[in-house]
Amino acid sequence: MHGKVCIVTGANSGIGRVTAIDLAGRGATVVLVCRNHASGSAVVEEIGRRGDDAALLIADLASQRQVREVAAAFLKRFDRLDVLINNAGVAGWGTRLVTEDGLEATFAVNHLAPFLLTYLLLDTLKASAPSRVVTVSSAAHKSFTLDLDDLQGERRYSGFGAYGRSKLANILFTHELSRRLEGTGVTANCLHPGVVATGIFRNIPRWMRFILTSPLVLTPERGADTMIYLATAPELAEVSGQYFVKRKPVRSSRASRDTETARRLWWASEVLTAASDT
Ligand SMILES: NC(=O)c1ccc[n+]([C@@H]2O[C@H](COP(=O)([O-])OP(=O)(O)OC[C@H]3O[C@@H](n4cnc5c(N)ncnc54)[C@H](OP(=O)(O)O)[C@@H]3O)[C@@H](O)[C@H]2O)c1
Repeated sequence: MHGKVCIVTGANSGIGRVTAIDLAGRGATVVLVCRNHASGSAVVEEIGRRGDDAALLIADLASQRQVREVAAAFLKRFDRLDVLINNAGVAGWGTRLVTEDGLEATFAVNHLAPFLLTYLLLDTLKASAPSRVVTVSSAAHKSFTLDLDDLQGERRYSGFGAYGRSKLANILFTHELSRRLEGTGVTANCLHPGVVATGIFRNIPRWMRFILTSPLVLTPERGADTMIYLATAPELAEVSGQYFVKRKPVRSSRASRDTETARRLWWASEVLTAASDT
């Protein structure tokens, strides 16, 4: 990875942190996009102590203004992007929250932010090809379908439903992105990392806590494995549009493979982020 520039969003904790440290250890310059300055700086310092290279850019990805600002700040400092890892994610288990843009927060952070960030960096990814976009989805997508007329959960809302649908959106986004990137040398893949003991479960309802007692729960180190594999494996240089679990491409849910829904979600996301006006 020497000479390569990688972005990892949400790299101050969990599997994003492990991935950033690993990629820097392989010689890449890793740009951490985090909302928390103190914990983001701590990871950059840890990477520095190992003699590796990292930089920190601050953004609350719930804010489209901050997504735009962080993309601009990146493009000001770096002239190439080899790997963009859309890892940051939130699980709002309780009340429906609305961002400063008037959007349901889980959908905004988990889907619209990676959509907009990727959109704003596409020209640089293409100019740096072969390059990769890796998006962290979840097996939680499997229980849901996407209601394109209620993307904000205005009619029907549950925390787990919003999370699962946002992770379904990650896969639909990956499929449509991959289709649009055909022939450019930029690949787009997504993954389920496994059930990993991280901060994502910090507000988990009491009745769901049994999940974390399973011996199958992974450490962040193990949970980061597939993400690092997708970012680095030479054999994946031309593999695109796939959903990976444990390093293997697997069939995601039927709803996540619907081409028409993927296309319509792309258009809706362009409108909701005003991406093409940028
Ligand atoms: N853990 C699992 O079992 C599991 C399973 C399937 C999928 N995933 C996915 O894995 C990814 C990484 O999560 P994790 O498990 O490593 O949990 P985590 O430790 O909570 O990491 C999530 C990261 O996203 C960041 N983030 C959340 N909202 C943000 C915002 N508005 N702006 C900027 N950054 C924001 C968090 O920052 P703060 O520290 O500031 O909150 C944190 O760095 C997520 O996309 C999650 O959906 C996890």
